[in-house]
Amino acid sequence: MEESFKVVKTDVLVIGAGGAGMRASIAVKDAGLDVVMVSKSLLGKAHTVMAEGGIAAALGNVDPQDNWTVHYGDIIEEGVYISNWKMAEICAKEAPDRVFELEDYGALFDRTPDGRILQRAFGAHTYRRLCHVGDRTGLEIIKTLEDQVLHRDIKFFDEMYITKVVVKDGKACGAIGIKMNTGEFHYFEAKSVIIATGGCGRVYKVTSNSWESTGDGLGLAYEAGAVLKDMEMIQFHPTGMVYPPGVKGLLITEAVRGEGGILLNSKGERYMLRYSPQKKELDARDVVARANYKEIQEGRGTEHGGVYLDITSKGADYIKHKLPAMYMQFMEFAGVDITKEKMEVAPTVHYQMGGIRVDAETGHSSLEGLFAAGEVASGLHGANRLGGNSLADILVFGRRAGEGAVAYAKKANETGADKKAIESEIARIRSFLKKDGKNPYEFIDRLTSAMSDHVGIVRTREELEKAITIIEQLKQEYREVGTLGSVRYNHGLLGCLELGNMLIAAEAITRAAIMREESRGAHARIDFPKKDKNWLKNIEISKSDKGMTFNVVPVQEMPAEYKKYAKPEEY
Ligand code: FUM
Repeated sequence: MEESFKVVKTDVLVIGAGGAGMRASIAVKDAGLDVVMVSKSLLGKAHTVMAEGGIAAALGNVDPQDNWTVHYGDIIEEGVYISNWKMAEICAKEAPDRVFELEDYGALFDRTPDGRILQRAFGAHTYRRLCHVGDRTGLEIIKTLEDQVLHRDIKFFDEMYITKVVVKDGKACGAIGIKMNTGEFHYFEAKSVIIATGGCGRVYKVTSNSWESTGDGLGLAYEAGAVLKDMEMIQFHPTGMVYPPGVKGLLITEAVRGEGGILLNSKGERYMLRYSPQKKELDARDVVARANYKEIQEGRGTEHGGVYLDITSKGADYIKHKLPAMYMQFMEFAGVDITKEKMEVAPTVHYQMGGIRVDAETGHSSLEGLFAAGEVASGLHGANRLGGNSLADILVFGRRAGEGAVAYAKKANETGADKKAIESEIARIRSFLKKDGKNPYEFIDRLTSAMSDHVGIVRTREELEKAITIIEQLKQEYREVGTLGSVRYNHGLLGCLELGNMLIAAEAITRAAIMREESRGAHARIDFPKKDKNWLKNIEISKSDKGMTFNVVPVQEMPAEYKKYAKPEEY
């Protein structure tokens, strides 16, 4: 009998083709193993492009005092002391090499007058540290990596939505996916699997994230039995577009402030002088985002519910040279000339600091054979992320996860396809195809509204519990969602499948946010407004027979000699 699915065998399967997935695939290929990379989008259509303003690496080209220890201290302080110190060390030490490697691959960074890589200021970085390509750094990185992937002839399946990581004898050994444009089911049999699917920003209504960021990797890992961590930590970027409605939430790069942009309220006050007299617009993202939020809440907002961001003082030539994408974005979407007019901006959900718990050096998750890198993995950023560190993260830890997966695959045995598990997953997917199914997008609308309304930039137990009530209701009703049509090119089916992952992400974020009774970094509780040393802890999450299970564990202590790199009074 003909199989109802195709089997693809490889040494390492990489799920996701953003910066982390591509860098991991390159590492596997360069180590001489077979690699297959899959992505639910098209190659090059990665959320990585939304890190616009630069990649953080302590090169010291503009500020010679900069070095890895200062970068390390900045990561620890910004993460408010719950980051994994080893990941912070690795990132700070290795980011420069990854930037030079990008140059070798062909990326063209902006230059200093004497020809070195130019670095700009970004919030909460002690020194000017962000290597950049105007305001389209993520795009340059993706294009450069894509080039390398194509040159190496890495096998790639696009529009491939992975619905399950297969586990046999307690080890990840492959994944099941549906090729969305043809409707063909695939089983990818692999000795090790890397998840690099990015974040879950799309569980919120207003977000800078692309449509792909629906928390798929979180759902895959959680269902397979891996531990998640720090899920309560969701970063709001201070500046997203507010108008027109179709682009609400779209990112306005921090580079605008890095290049001298200032924030003003409707009274014309530069209010960051009040909130942060020293660092002003270049304080940490959580500080600036909450200041923007407060100004708007207290009635000093703009016509469309934002605050103003003004860079006009820099002059048209400078702005068009340094921020060409922002110039075009406002001109085309809002009809605003930012060389002459102020922008309207408001906080937008931008990044998940939490995710799959991984080993700092190899990216190995708590599940044997399963690795993770990039935004879907947790540890580096703790309670908050420095701008530009997402790009450093995907390259440093994408490469390391690739090498980790290679080392594991070399020792692993072939497992063979578990036909029963595959058939049962295909049956689950097909079960969403029905006549009277409830519209998944109506569910997604209810879920994203609940998250934006009740699990926002400031939180209280009362509001968080409202969200949990809605999430529980949606979980109950989830079995009723469905769509007409076949498995081929069916967006409704994709919605049904994504919704499952979004519900896992939303529940993890909200329940962990209820547990953490303090304010730390991106997690601000009005009912617990202070930071509490008893919460120098990480919240870990896993699936058990009882449902979602939480475990509070102390933060791994850093070596004594590293403590001097960040403010000591915080330990
Ligand atoms: O503002 C930005 O350009 C975003 C960068 C980042 O999130 O790292």
